Amino acid sequence: MSTPSTAPAIDRTDVVTGVVVPGDQRGRLLGFPTANVAVPHHALQDGVWAGTVLLDPAPDGTPGTLHVAAVSVGHRPTYYGKDGERLLEANLLDFDGDLYGRRVQIDLHVRLRPQRRYSGSTELVEQLHRDVQDTRRWAHETGLGHLLTGRARSDRARPR
Ligand SMILES: Cc1cc2nc3c(=O)[nH]c(=O)nc-3n(C[C@H](O)[C@H](O)[C@H](O)COP(=O)(O)O)c2cc1C
Repeated sequence: MSTPSTAPAIDRTDVVTGVVVPGDQRGRLLGFPTANVAVPHHALQDGVWAGTVLLDPAPDGTPGTLHVAAVSVGHRPTYYGKDGERLLEANLLDFDGDLYGRRVQIDLHVRLRPQRRYSGSTELVEQLHRDVQDTRRWAHETGLGHLLTGRARSDRARPR
């Protein structure tokens, strides 16, 4: 479980706020469900980031919580070539729940790599495991390790 908190006071390059919208649902099948948010401005660089997601209080009074996340910004070239819709997708580590309609603040802290086109889901999923490992390492190094429970289902699943 994550501890209710505010965003950490560490360097960050970009902050995005918005409401989580439905995606194509492929992420859950891949074992990496994502919270999708509209990309607000083109100045935001495409790529994969280690960052945090702050979930705002829900209408039912559920308090906001801070989560570590591996975040993708781009056109998902593996599936849609260059013409895909540009999306921000956050995979919250050690989190399993429905986020549709929740307000979120996403802080992009460290750019891990550019978006790439992979030969298929198997190769992409292998890279997603590495991205999550890199994000975990970043969280521990940055003092956010207390947000990680190690009880993730999403980042241990394999493609079907
Ligand atoms: C950490 C992370 C890194 C990603 N990197 C790439 C990438 O390099 N290339 C790509 O085509 N898609 C990438 N994606 C996007 C996935 O293709 C996308 O999450 C998946 O297709 C599920 O999309 P959906 O939830 O909208 O169905 C990445 C997603 C995440 C969470």
